[in-house]
Amino acid sequence: MTETDKSDPLAKAVKEGFSKTPKSIPSWTFYDEKGDQLFRDIMNLPEYYLTDCEAEIFQNSADEMLETFGANNEKFDLIELGAGDGVKTEILLKNWVNAGVEFRYYPVDISPYILKTLEKRMSKNLPELEIHSLPLTFDEALEGPIEKMNKNRKVFFFLGSNIGNLNRQQGIDFLKNLRTRMNKGDMALVGFDLRKDPRVILKAYDDSRGVTAEFNLNLLDRLNRELGANFERDAFSHFPYYDPVVGTAKSYIVSHKDQEVTFDRLKRSYSFDAWELIHTEISRKFSPEEIEELASLAGLRAVHYFEDKRSYYRNTVLM
Ligand code: AVJ
Repeated sequence: MTETDKSDPLAKAVKEGFSKTPKSIPSWTFYDEKGDQLFRDIMNLPEYYLTDCEAEIFQNSADEMLETFGANNEKFDLIELGAGDGVKTEILLKNWVNAGVEFRYYPVDISPYILKTLEKRMSKNLPELEIHSLPLTFDEALEGPIEKMNKNRKVFFFLGSNIGNLNRQQGIDFLKNLRTRMNKGDMALVGFDLRKDPRVILKAYDDSRGVTAEFNLNLLDRLNRELGANFERDAFSHFPYYDPVVGTAKSYIVSHKDQEVTFDRLKRSYSFDAWELIHTEISRKFSPEEIEELASLAGLRAVHYFEDKRSYYRNTVLM
């Protein structure tokens, strides 16, 4: 790794990803300030059912979840990995605060902007709640502040189908890493999007208003701005795809023509053939059996789950 790579994860992501075939870039790069806002717009889309499902589960299962997590009325620390704006989580937290439950909330997110939004809103809506925002990557948080935390019981949240962004091996490694941070009695709540009608899934990533396309292509603006690239937005488009055989939605950016893109800050350029792809994201969908399998490969057990009425989505408790 060179000095610039260490100080600039985005530069490193481009150099690594664009040297692969097909070219790719990790999906965390979506989330600059504009990308955060676009993802919040996605969560409000009628086609993006995931958010509604998880909100429905939290509305209907707050009490039952508290029975699961708040064992013996013992104080606990709630650590949410990839908290985002925390709107859905607030449904649960509100219920728990009102019930007089004693816990502290540690939202972790790579985006400092979105954590500001979360903190501002939650401290207004739930003034009694103790919030400690951690604007860090998961690894930084798990190895740093969380490792050094007190001996309170811990509950980890990994919601919103964020686990779907990880491929099979990354998913196993992520849960294994989480397991090493868990002591006896600690638990994790993980949000899994379930397999369902492939047409419903594809629409969630191919909305009629084009917000998801905007979300993907915003990445090109980010690379132009932060790495001095000269992507021509109109010469690329968003291409979403769902493969029901493996249960994976994939997003691509497609180049419309032969073209060369220069990155001033990387002091190099990349050429694109006509219709060449940049792979930007995977969003995996799980069967109940696949959830159990993933848990057991990571050395964890799925001890409980909560579903929405349509069985589109499942929040699973792992121990
Ligand atoms: C936040 C990663 C769960 O994959 O469904 C939404 C991101 N991408 N639309 C997902 C996303 C396109 C979302 N996650």
